[in-house]
Amino acid sequence: MLRVQDVSRRYARMPRPAVSGVTLALEPGRTLAVVGESGAGKSTLVRMLVGLERPDTGSITLDGEPVLMRSGRVSPLQMVFQNPFDALNPLRSVGWSVAEPLRSRSRGERAEEVQRLLQLVGVDPTRARERPRSFSGGQLQRIVLARALAAEPRVLVCDEPTSALDVSVQAQILNLLLRLQSELGFACIVVTHDLGVVRVLAHDVLVLKDGEVVEQRSADALFAAPAAEYTRRLLEVERPISSGEPAPRAGLVGG
Ligand SMILES: Nc1ncnc2c1ncn2[C@@H]1O[C@H](COP(=O)(O)OP(=O)(O)OP(=O)(O)O)[C@@H](O)[C@H]1O
Ligand SMILES: [Mg+2]
Repeated sequence: MLRVQDVSRRYARMPRPAVSGVTLALEPGRTLAVVGESGAGKSTLVRMLVGLERPDTGSITLDGEPVLMRSGRVSPLQMVFQNPFDALNPLRSVGWSVAEPLRSRSRGERAEEVQRLLQLVGVDPTRARERPRSFSGGQLQRIVLARALAAEPRVLVCDEPTSALDVSVQAQILNLLLRLQSELGFACIVVTHDLGVVRVLAHDVLVLKDGEVVEQRSADALFAAPAAEYTRRLLEVERPISSGEPAPRAGLVGG
């Protein structure tokens, strides 16, 4: 469904490209984790996927069509950012924000859809008129998800979706993502530093280093036997999985 072919991006005055020759493919219902140390090019890559950044070379297609940001059109690739506290307009009600991608619908349909979406992500729909400041971080990330889902995305792109949240609510958000994905069937790309997140969400993993792909394999295979020394080092810094986290997709390995 999503095809990324040999994509590169170099910023002015950088000695090397931020992303260099990345190729990947993603099918519906699958989750790809993008991992790598700080500065590896993870955010640059996903920003290109959602059209916030233009690649210098290479192509990005969805069902064979080039992915472009067209003004006035709701993108089939929706992005969820790290920090839910600044993702929503503080002056508007959360219902207004969730309704943003529903511009083409009638007023009544929009209101109904906002209620349905808030319910879907586990936020009390009667609170649609409240401003973001009266919600917790976990609730805000649920509302951000509701807004992304309003666009009926084919691909949900999440850049560190839980790292700004309390540990106690991280697992809830991961569980929610898993449930929504199985109900709605979208594909997911998740950028994370947290290998616990990889274990829970990812079917496949792409490891980036200095803008280049070090390895790209199933999560099971990668956790069982990382091919690259760089990946082994990344896995060594994995924090222990706290109890109460969702059952991992990839089996637990080691102690
Ligand atoms: N707008 C920009 N202008 C110039 N250089 C940039 C810009 N954005 C990113 N870079 C550089 O590109 C490289 C990759 O950055 P990127 O943000 O993609 O890394 P990352 O893997 O997301 O890191 P982190 O884990 O810290 O978020 C870094 O060297 C960064 O300094
Ligand atoms: Mg980043």
